[in-house]
Amino acid sequence: MLKKWWQDKTVYQIYPKSFCDSNGDGIGDLKGIISRLDMIKELGADMIWLSPIYCSPLADQGYDISDYYRIDPRFGTMEDMDELIAEGKKRGIGIIMDLVVNHCSDEHEWFKKACEDPDGKYGKFFYIETVKEGEKLPCNWRSYFGGSVWEKLPGHEDRYYLHVFHKKQPDLNWENPELRNEIYKMINWWLDKGLAGFRIDAIINIKKTLPFHDYPADRDDGMTDISNMLKEAEGIGEFLGEMRDRCFLPHDAFSAGEVFNVKDEQIPEFIGENGYFSTMFDFNANIYGRSSKGWYDCKIITPDAYRDCCFESQRKIGDAGFLSNIIENHDEPRGVSHYIPKEDLNDASKKLLATVSVMLRGIPFIYQGQELGMENIPINSIDEVDDISSRDEYEVALRAGKTPEEAIRIVSEFSRDNARTPYQWNSTENAGFTSGKPWLRVNPNYREINFENEEKDPDSVLSYYKKLLALRKNPNDRDTLIFGSLKPVWEDRPGIMAYERSSENQKILIAANFSREPQAIKPGSGYSKVLLNNLPELSENEGTITLGAYQAVILEI
Ligand code: GLC
Ligand code: CA
Repeated sequence: MLKKWWQDKTVYQIYPKSFCDSNGDGIGDLKGIISRLDMIKELGADMIWLSPIYCSPLADQGYDISDYYRIDPRFGTMEDMDELIAEGKKRGIGIIMDLVVNHCSDEHEWFKKACEDPDGKYGKFFYIETVKEGEKLPCNWRSYFGGSVWEKLPGHEDRYYLHVFHKKQPDLNWENPELRNEIYKMINWWLDKGLAGFRIDAIINIKKTLPFHDYPADRDDGMTDISNMLKEAEGIGEFLGEMRDRCFLPHDAFSAGEVFNVKDEQIPEFIGENGYFSTMFDFNANIYGRSSKGWYDCKIITPDAYRDCCFESQRKIGDAGFLSNIIENHDEPRGVSHYIPKEDLNDASKKLLATVSVMLRGIPFIYQGQELGMENIPINSIDEVDDISSRDEYEVALRAGKTPEEAIRIVSEFSRDNARTPYQWNSTENAGFTSGKPWLRVNPNYREINFENEEKDPDSVLSYYKKLLALRKNPNDRDTLIFGSLKPVWEDRPGIMAYERSSENQKILIAANFSREPQAIKPGSGYSKVLLNNLPELSENEGTITLGAYQAVILEI
């Protein structure tokens, strides 16, 4: 039934800096990843997405690339990369890299040359505008990491360049065909090396509304959220279609778009039959409750809201394509800390969250440590925080009148550092991540939550993830779980998240009690088989099942 080779795959995301350090410098590296490939295989993943490992000053942890053709020495060498691709192949694991092409680093040679000669070839690789003294900036957009998107071009008093992220991440000018050619050449160079594909960073931002103009201010800084510009931007499809035709299609590569702010009617165009990408992430639950004012104004999601977000996305996509389903990634807090009410955080609730997410229609992406049930890290002071967006949000909260204690609480809730703490391998010092000093603090709970403990324990979160991912591959159930339709059931029942996956010959019910109170459910015609249960028992009486606190079951019906 497979139409495309990637449709039945599960992807494991590695944040290389925090995964496994082979040489004791406190930074994870490619050799470390190679040494753990067997464990990723055993988990049941078929592809690995590596967050960026290209040369970078790491102003935004590698999402600021200074050389697209080289591996940053902190992560290893090109030989290591070739070895990783080859060792992955031996195990049937494809490697996906991060494609960061909305912007590069201000230390990239293109940008250096643009500074030398803003009117020359490389000046046109960026958005550079002349602003004379006393004149106003070309537009009032606020960068994602705070402050104006405009920054003085080094060496020029009257020139400014655009950066929608950090000022060390100048935006590349996609309107320029010469720049696009350079990007495609680079993508093809990597694909020729044997990559399975790319995860495509921040891609919706490559199309700007030109000529630059203001939007109504939404904070008292007089600036406006970039999303206001994105709503109006038209014509991104020309760039994305070209990239697909010149790079991804000829290589039959997998491509996963990081796409925020897509318009509903554009979904098929993005990931339908001949879409720009194989798939794109569903961020509906992640962005729930977000506010353009900042993290301090965000609402915390409830289990019912989580369910509604998932179902809303599933309805929008239907069978028009495959979304990628995530619980967390390197930009989000740990999913178990975010989606499960704090007082109910335990192995059962963690397994429940895994069940309802992994069984959705689409491609499951598992972020490193998610399979262990890794949690947010306690943050006590802003000095402990590395992430640039957390540091900005801390200031934003203070400016909005929050006390430093409140601001820290807010940052702890949402900080990207939560997901970036070192992987917890075992209970020895530094969680076995490094023999040196880890670049970011290890979560103090590593003595309980770690790979070694969980690997031995058949009831651990890790063992449960293995069963879940194996179920997707089970010849009996696979067609239903991969291609089957998804129909929400008992949607109006508080604390219940349940849905049916159906194919021609089979129906599977995923039913979860996302609450502490027991909940009775009655699958219409009963069930024939328990495919998975996150608790040891299933209580049943005359066709009525009573789900215990945070119980999740997968039943063939
Ligand atoms: C994406 C990345 C994030 C990065 C940003 C800028 O959202 O996932 O980590 O900061 O793009 O590249
Ligand atoms: Ca290292």
